[in-house]
Amino acid sequence: MTSTILLTFLLIGARIVVCQNATVLSATASTTSSGSTSFVTNIELSVEDLWDLYVGPVSTFSINTTVEPTPIPSSSLVPPPTLYYPPFPTGQQAPFQPKNETWKFPADFWYGVAGAAYQIEGAAKDEGRGPSIWDVLSHRATNYVVTNDTGDVADNNYYQYKEDIARIAALGIKAYSFTISWSRILPFGSGPVNEQALRHYDDLIDTCLEYNVIPQVTLYHWDLPLFLQNSYGGWLSSKIVPDFTEYARIVFTRWASKVHYWFTVNEPIVFCGFYPLPENYFKKVAIPEKQQPYVCGHNVLLSHAAAYHVGKSINRNLSISLKHNGGYKIPLTNSPADAEAVQRAWDFQESWFADPVFINGDYPSRLKSYVSTFLPAFSDEEKARINGTSDIFAHDAYTSDFIMAPDTGIEACTSNASHPLFPQCYNTTKTYANNYWAIGPAGDPGTPWLYKATDWVPAFLHYMQNTWKPRGGIAITEFGFSEPYEGLKTELVAILIDPVRSAYYREYLEAILIAVSQGVKVVGTLAWSIYDNFEWGQGYSVKFGIQVGFLGVLFFIFFLKPFHTPLSMVFADEELVR
Ligand SMILES: *[C@@H]1O[C@H](CO)[C@@H](O)[C@H](O)[C@H]1NC(C)=O
Ligand SMILES: *[C@@H]1O[C@H](CO)[C@@H](O)[C@H](O)[C@H]1NC(C)=O
Ligand SMILES: *[C@@H]1O[C@H](CO)[C@@H](O)[C@H](O)[C@H]1NC(C)=O
Ligand SMILES: *[C@@H]1O[C@H](CO)[C@@H](O)[C@H](O)[C@H]1NC(C)=O
Ligand SMILES: *[C@@H]1O[C@H](CO)[C@@H](O)[C@H](O)[C@H]1NC(C)=O
Ligand SMILES: *[C@@H]1O[C@H](CO)[C@@H](O)[C@H](O)[C@H]1NC(C)=O
Ligand SMILES: *[C@@H]1O[C@H](CO)[C@@H](O)[C@H](O)[C@H]1NC(C)=O
Ligand SMILES: *[C@@H]1O[C@H](CO)[C@@H](O)[C@H](O)[C@H]1NC(C)=O
Repeated sequence: MTSTILLTFLLIGARIVVCQNATVLSATASTTSSGSTSFVTNIELSVEDLWDLYVGPVSTFSINTTVEPTPIPSSSLVPPPTLYYPPFPTGQQAPFQPKNETWKFPADFWYGVAGAAYQIEGAAKDEGRGPSIWDVLSHRATNYVVTNDTGDVADNNYYQYKEDIARIAALGIKAYSFTISWSRILPFGSGPVNEQALRHYDDLIDTCLEYNVIPQVTLYHWDLPLFLQNSYGGWLSSKIVPDFTEYARIVFTRWASKVHYWFTVNEPIVFCGFYPLPENYFKKVAIPEKQQPYVCGHNVLLSHAAAYHVGKSINRNLSISLKHNGGYKIPLTNSPADAEAVQRAWDFQESWFADPVFINGDYPSRLKSYVSTFLPAFSDEEKARINGTSDIFAHDAYTSDFIMAPDTGIEACTSNASHPLFPQCYNTTKTYANNYWAIGPAGDPGTPWLYKATDWVPAFLHYMQNTWKPRGGIAITEFGFSEPYEGLKTELVAILIDPVRSAYYREYLEAILIAVSQGVKVVGTLAWSIYDNFEWGQGYSVKFGIQVGFLGVLFFIFFLKPFHTPLSMVFADEELVR
């Protein structure tokens, strides 16, 4: 631990020169934030040194070269007994809506599955990958991951992707959305490019195309190259803008001819919310804690916009978008205070990133009145570059919440920076105003934010279309459900049946169909997730997979849930998708 902290200090003020496969830090005397002066000359850091100094040893798995797919066992293709489903659709909130046989998803509607590099790839140190902040968070930051799990091996997708893609194709799924590990392509985040990583993703993309599965690529899903965090504070510095842009340029240049759907950053509300990072593991920054997420967001918007323009300059036809997240916001009561709370919730969630990108290049007014005290306003030139930089409204929309004013009222919060809800100054609950019933069935206790609330999906889709008017329509780029207590089950037969998740997927898709029939343009959906995986702070304890993963040393076999997989079940029963 001492060496970690020491090096973090030494990096402050260092001038970084990147060579072929090592990074040379050369600095003259520099004064650290603690006031002491350190002298550093010509420290040469290899990728291996980054691992040794900041992460330590990682676990490996026996399959450590790219393998061909094994056949899908016919035993896993036995149809299950029918599950009970209520009439179309369920829910006490939405008025009962009988199915209309003329309703159809558009012919080019894509339904797919999603995964993210750190959550599924494994092979943490292999083939030149540099560490990301998540290698430190999972290995070093005490209790950051409640189970102490890491992504070292995860689903071993890095070596078994051919099998994963074969299974996606066998399920009849049209699209696979994966993310690229920035620190595989650029182990230091900038500087030398790792050709082996480029060749890996070449083959991953080619394998999708070979199986007729549409590849969709996200550039950034939270795995910030560690070196960028320690050099200048990662997303907290505007230095990240040229580095992200260069990374995007490398990736777009390589695959623009093969990949049509691109996403720049995944859920910035969440990853900007990681700031402040836990103390002692990363470079310290002087920005006050509550301001850090918004400084991150500012640099994210500038980085996203720059990347968008780079992609468009390479091929105007690419679909490039930022991935938003959030839920529908239902006023708890009809009071004016709750209505204002709902507006604050939109402004501090979706609109934070969606208004700049879709409406006018600028933050929404309620957010602006907070950030204007510490962030530079976007210049007119920046606004013009940010406005219009998403081709579709890509929304990770899992659930909904009731929104209400804080107990003290909104004004007592907005005027008091010490208020626990400052600066957002709205409160949320999963319980109706009767204070008794929940909004819907709960997911796993490890995901207290997730309840099934599919009744509000049509209203949510109308809101997205009316508010942000995305020219290319809306895609639900993540939706899914953590089947309650699945992590406690040990028998495969018990794990295979997912009653709540099945109802969630089925009714969510029915709700999309209703909205489509009412004129909302929805172009596709991506189920989260391709299989059970490393769910960040929850490790492997919560299960979102539409395939079961038995993770650990003994088993590494994925069991398909082909007919209990809610997607295929809906599609088989309802023939909703052609
Ligand atoms: C890069 O690393 C390899 C293997 O360690 C070494 O053989 C090679 O000389 C290095 N290249 C440079 C430019 O340092
Ligand atoms: C790959 O795994 C095998 C065991 O399956 C092991 O013997 C070998 O050392 C591993 N290779 C590397 C490069 O880790
Ligand atoms: C079914 O939907 C079509 C097109 O939206 C509409 O014209 C028709 O009236 C609907 N049928 C019923 C029974 O609601
Ligand atoms: C995780 O590791 C920490 C520190 O080593 C330990 O205190 C904690 O009990 C561990 N948690 C679990 C779930 O094993
Ligand atoms: C863009 O799309 C149009 C219409 O689909 C097509 O004619 C054109 O060749 C495409 N251009 C590129 C650069 O792919
Ligand atoms: C932002 O772009 C939209 C079209 O995408 C346009 O209608 C609007 O006028 C622009 N707003 C500003 C402030 O430039
Ligand atoms: C927020 O709402 C919860 C109930 O969901 C309540 O217990 C809590 O006191 C509220 N917090 C504030 C600051 O209003
Ligand atoms: C501001 O909020 C804090 C924390 O809730 C509270 O202790 C304090 O009394 C509030 N200050 C004022 C002026 O209301």
